[in-house]
Amino acid sequence: MTDATLAIYPGSFDPLTLGHEDIARRSLKFVDRLLVSVAHHPTQQKDRMFSVEERVAMIREAFADEPRIAVADFSGLLVDFCRQVDARIVVRGLRAVSDFEYEFQMALMNRELWPDLEMVFMTPAGEFTFLSASLVREIAALGGDVSRFVSEPVRRRLEART
Ligand code: PNS
Repeated sequence: MTDATLAIYPGSFDPLTLGHEDIARRSLKFVDRLLVSVAHHPTQQKDRMFSVEERVAMIREAFADEPRIAVADFSGLLVDFCRQVDARIVVRGLRAVSDFEYEFQMALMNRELWPDLEMVFMTPAGEFTFLSASLVREIAALGGDVSRFVSEPVRRRLEART
């Protein structure tokens, strides 16, 4: 018997979209536990809508039905956090070729920093390939309906914020 496999799913999740949720739930086919991990220091700084604490709270609610998914936040380097929680697998979603360069660069840099870490890239369901947190933020801020793109705990917070 091997130990249960833990993977980290890191990101900004500002906010969590149905695309993120799809990736997280799909990953449970090959890991036993997933820790969705909200970064305090994202590589690409964008305009922020929700605090890290708010994002953690909404992600917890979104995965309340799934005991194998836990939520945390982390400061500093992803590799240091992975070492700290003893995880050697990182899951990331790849939507399109446009994501590839950034992901490839981060994956190779993370491997330089900690060669034991494996990055696993997953494609979301086709219906989510156009979806991004930044577009959801923009649509919500301009009064559009985001209910098809985010789950209820996220939608409620977006509505209250805009
Ligand atoms: O959702 P995002 O913003 O694309 O996620 C990027 C994230 C948070 C996974 C990445 O920026 C990250 O790992 N940040 C932590 C700081 C770090 O380790 N930087 C070096 C990356 S090679």
